[in-house]
This record gives sequence, C-alpha cells and structure tokens, in this order.
Amino acid sequence: MKGCDCVDIPDDTSQEARALLRLSIFASGRTAPNPSVACVISSADLSILIGGATEPAGRRHAEIVALDALDRFALEHARFDPPLPLTMTVTLEPCSRYGRTPPCVQRIGLYGRESDFAKTHGLYIDTVRIAEADPSLHGGGFAALRQMGFRVEQADGPFRSFLLPFLSRLKGRPLYTVKLATDRNGVMGHRDRSVSLTGESGRILTMRLRAKCDGVLVGPGTVAVDRPSLDLRPPLRSAVIPFEESPMAPVADVDARRVWLRSLFEPDSGWSAIEDPELRREFQPVRIFLLGRPFVGRELFFERQYALSSATGREALFLSVRSMSGHWPGAIEVPDVTDPAFFSELSELLAEKGLNRILIESGYGLLPLWLRSLQEDDVFLHVQHDEPRDTTDDGWLRIDAGFDELDHLDEYQFAPGMKAMAYGRRRMDGDG
Ligand SMILES: NC(=O)c1ccc[n+]([C@@H]2O[C@H](COP(=O)([O-])OP(=O)(O)OC[C@H]3O[C@@H](n4cnc5c(N)ncnc54)[C@H](OP(=O)(O)O)[C@@H]3O)[C@@H](O)[C@H]2O)c1
Repeated sequence: MKGCDCVDIPDDTSQEARALLRLSIFASGRTAPNPSVACVISSADLSILIGGATEPAGRRHAEIVALDALDRFALEHARFDPPLPLTMTVTLEPCSRYGRTPPCVQRIGLYGRESDFAKTHGLYIDTVRIAEADPSLHGGGFAALRQMGFRVEQADGPFRSFLLPFLSRLKGRPLYTVKLATDRNGVMGHRDRSVSLTGESGRILTMRLRAKCDGVLVGPGTVAVDRPSLDLRPPLRSAVIPFEESPMAPVADVDARRVWLRSLFEPDSGWSAIEDPELRREFQPVRIFLLGRPFVGRELFFERQYALSSATGREALFLSVRSMSGHWPGAIEVPDVTDPAFFSELSELLAEKGLNRILIESGYGLLPLWLRSLQEDDVFLHVQHDEPRDTTDDGWLRIDAGFDELDHLDEYQFAPGMKAMAYGRRRMDGDG
C-alpha cells in the first residue's frame, strides 16, 4: 500500500501504520453511527499485509473485512510450512458484544494458533495490537482476546483523529468542523442573493468535507438566501486544480485535528472512487437545515429536498427554532439560537441521530455562535480566495473580526489563489 505523504506521518512510521492511516481516511464519512476503524493483518517481514476498513452501518466491521481478505489470501496460497504467525493491528478495540453484527472477537478467535484455520493454511494470528480502547465495551474486547490466548499489545499511530468523532458522540456531542469562505477582504456573501466566492477549487474542498462528515448543517439565513442542496456531488478532484501539488508545511507533532484536516488535501484517498454514483451514496451526509422565518421559494426548496432524499438514499433533517416552529410542521423543534441551551440541545439531538462528525457551512449571523461553541477537538476552517469581490452595491456581508480566541493550526495553499486557514480552540494539556 502506498504511503500517505501529505498526512502528518513521521518518516519512521511503519508500513502497517501508513496502511492503517490510509484505510482510516477512506472509512471516515461512511460508517456513522459506527467509528471509522482500520485493521491490518501482517507477517513480521510484511510479505503479507492485508487491510480492511469499516463498512457502512450494518455491514462488516474493519476486522471482518480484513479477515475475509485473509481467507481469500489463504485459499490462493499453498499451506505455509512452518506455520507463520501474523499480527492483527486494529485502531479501535474489537467489539465483544452483539450489535447489528456478531462480535468481532468471536471471529478473530477462529484464527488462533490451535484453530482449524491454522491447521489448514499454516497461518495464525498470534498478536492483536490495539490503538484505542472503546469505552462502551468496558474492556470486554481486550479481556476476550486475552482469554482466547492472543497476545494483546498497544499500537501507536495518528489514528485517533478518525476515532475522535465517535468517541465524542458516545459522550453526547458530535465533533464539528465549521467552514467559512471569503474573498481576500473578508466578504462572505450577500444579504439577498446567493453568490459563489471560491469557485471550482473551493467547491471541490466543500465536497470533500461533505464526503468526510456524517452531517452538514446550515443556519436559517443561509437556508433562506441560498436554499442549498447540501448533497455530495462530483467532482471531488480535478486535473486542473493541483490539490496534488499543494505544498504542505511539515508539522513535527501529531495533532489529531491536523491529521483530519490534512486528510482532506490528501490526493490519493479514494476521491475518484467516491465520485462513482454507487459508492458516493455511502458517503452522502445527512443534510441538516435549521429553519427560521418563512422564506420566499420554500415550496420549491422542500420539493427539491424530498427529491434529493430519494435520489441519495439519505433523508434530510429539518430542525426549527422554537419561536418559528408553527411555520414548519414536521420539523424537529430546537431552542431559539439566542437561547443558551441551543447548542447543547442541538448537539444532543445530532448525537442521538448517530452522527459522529458534523460540518457546519456557516452563514454570517451564526458565525459568532459557532465559534463560541467550538471545543478542543473541533476545527474552524477559513477558506479564502485571493481575488477581491466587487462590492459596490449594498448588502454585502463581511467578517471583520479575526479568530483571536483560537489557535492557528495550519494553512493549506490548495489551488492557485486559494488557501485554507485552520484554527482550533487552545488545548489545555497541550497534547494532540
Ligand atoms: N461564505 C460562506 O462560507 C457562506 C456559507 C453559508 C452562507 N453564507 C452566506 O451567509 C448569508 C446568510 O447568513 P445569515 O446571517 O443570514 O444566516 P445564518 O447564519 O445562516 O442564520 C443566522 C440568522 O438567520 C436569521 N434568520 C432567521 N430566519 C431567517 C430568514 N428567513 N431569512 C434570513 N435570516 C433569517 C436569524 O436572525 P434574525 O432573526 O435576527 O434575523 C438567525 O440568527 C447568505 O448571504 C449566505 O450566502 C456564506
């Protein structure tokens, strides 16, 4: 498997770790409510390196995908003599209970030293390395594997980035990426009409974000002015736009937020595969609309959304602020945006819906609220087009404040005249 060069992998990262990172990147955006887990099965000399990533909910977990691939590999090869020990490395503790699928530990148990598989093929799993515990299992996965006679070890690597949204949701709050696009003077839109500020390359970045988040949310003003569709549409890459040549400043530490952000700019993360209509359905985000005052063109907007729900296989989620709920029968009521309980109740609701990572395509009015609500593992992405917009008529919306309260995390020059500046809340403990 090829390395994942523009994600922050130290030079000495093992080949397994690179494979795990690449698989984690691919899985993200496709697995909610499940975590985006990656699993690799390898021999000590790496002549065998087999991987798997979590499939959409209800389908195979990463371990099962990898073990199915191991089955196929074993059938295609003569019996190994002497028997060859293998290591399974998995980014999250394998499940030990029945969910939509049987427990992964049960299946892993069929590959031990004394198993029928070992006797038939001369291959067996000797060690299971795990990067992160799943708090919902209370150690059950570790215990079951040890009981079955596997050596269980700690795995290291920057995979946490792809597990954090799930781990956060377990605690009742999804992770957020707030995105905002402006021209070079901070112009971010017009009060009365929809305008595009960042052109084709900005659109591709938005589509990558939509693909890699489980839900995409917009505020009432944005719904009213833009009536956006929020679905995932190709292209996600372009021969003209040099995402591939983007100069990525190397970073010495492994901050989970930067790993996530850089994965969006990673050229070889299966973007072309996701452009395919069939696979794209699995990466479609839930489209989340926060409704306020009634707006012109709403009938057409809803019609288009219902059509999109059947075309994409993903229902939209309509939320209404409490004071306006009379206008939106069928929408789920949330507190008014001025209510201090608004953000926590919104988060609880989205977590209950099983959404791990949310993209907020921020409008002008709610930007301060989103910024205030960011927590340590969330990120804010300011996409800026170097071209100034002609703003001679009235009604242009311009942000004038910087993001002083936040730490500058990284900057990506991802196309000519286009950069994305990433910010995050200052970490208290300084770790990633
Ligand atoms: N550049 C970007 O990245 C980007 C992304 C998304 C949107 N935008 C632009 O941002 C603008 C929308 O921003 P925004 O501040 O209006 O909205 P917003 O941030 O989406 O929503 C915020 C405010 O919308 C107001 N609201 C409620 N119902 C409304 C309605 N029917 N029409 C208008 N406002 C309503 C409420 O304030 P009040 O009740 O106090 O009025 C609410 O606090 C548009 O021009 C859009 O194109 C830009």
